[in-house]
Amino acid sequence: MKVVAYSIKPFEKEFLSKANQKKHDITLISNPLSVETAVFAEGKDAVVVFTNDDVSAPVIARLGALGIKYIATRSAGTDHIDRDAAAIYGIKIANVPHYSPEAIAEHAVAMAFALNRKLIKADGHSHHFNFSNDGLMGFNFNGKTVGLIGLGNTGLAVAAIFKGLGCRVIGYDLKFPEDSMGIEQVTLPYLYANADIISLHAPLTPATKHLINSNTIQQMKDGVMLINTSRGALLNTADAIQGLRNGKIGYLGLDVYEFEKGLFFEDHHGDAVKDNLLEQLMQFDNVLVTPHQAYLTREAMQGIATQTIKNLDQWQENKCVGNACVCAKACRATQTANLIIQQNGQAPHSQI
Ligand code: NAI
Repeated sequence: MKVVAYSIKPFEKEFLSKANQKKHDITLISNPLSVETAVFAEGKDAVVVFTNDDVSAPVIARLGALGIKYIATRSAGTDHIDRDAAAIYGIKIANVPHYSPEAIAEHAVAMAFALNRKLIKADGHSHHFNFSNDGLMGFNFNGKTVGLIGLGNTGLAVAAIFKGLGCRVIGYDLKFPEDSMGIEQVTLPYLYANADIISLHAPLTPATKHLINSNTIQQMKDGVMLINTSRGALLNTADAIQGLRNGKIGYLGLDVYEFEKGLFFEDHHGDAVKDNLLEQLMQFDNVLVTPHQAYLTREAMQGIATQTIKNLDQWQENKCVGNACVCAKACRATQTANLIIQQNGQAPHSQI
């Protein structure tokens, strides 16, 4: 299969090349996908993208006109892809539904630790030979209540870590998992009112956009710790800044930012004009921002590369990519197929 992979970082190349084993003819380019760069897909069968790529309807229209049949995203989240537009052009879409959720979970917990024990500030002082303990007081996680919104792969992995720290873990999910691992199922208002630490692990959908806003922040405990490693727009950033100003939010850890597209994943320190909301956030020493790096472990990178190549392999053989199928229409066909497998123990015809 002829493929162009957009937004490729130097550190990704070895993982993709190891997974590909020269099976597919993949052109790796560092440019993000956009209306302008869609032309690089000319003559290809598939494009491989990441979360910062523009896979909106106008871009998909260009890809469709160029004869692109497949879009594989190297991410779990698919909110950057207009799936309905892809369906119009008959373009199939695949994601990486499950790759090392521990990578994301460990980063979320690392952010919580760094904020709580003021590790960044302490290290900054130590580097200047200031070994005073002033202003470094933290709290024990042991015995605290952690509220998780979204209990899929990463939410459950975060729960396991906080359980190990001796926390009470409460959670809310549209589909609460059957094996709850001792997580107490609660309503969102209960979670807001009782959690000392709230960590977000739901996808970005119309229902979760700005789930955390001035109204919901108001329902939280004073000095709450909020961690977002999911998608920036789950949090209304302007409202969060207000919550930091009035002390309602005691700690804010963001690996994702509402307006990160075109900003994160690149060095912007020389920009004359900087993102205003981010500049405001940076004024607070109880805010920790990382550049969408929760996925960035060797294990996760290999998992992403392996699944991405597997998706291309399946398409090449005219097969459905199974759980990785996120097509607006074929997804329903896949779900039906899975149901038939569950009921009959037999796979139906694999081509969709
Ligand atoms: P998942 O699909 O395994 O779990 C998501 C869970 O959220 C599901 O259990 C689902 O039922 C639940 N959910 C959906 N809508 C909801 C709602 N309105 N309210 C409450 N729960 C809801 O996904 P996974 O792997 O746990 O990832 C979660 C999100 O994390 C992804 O969608 C992606 O946006 C983000 N992510 C971020 C990464 C990073 O590097 N920062 C890396 C990987 C994922």
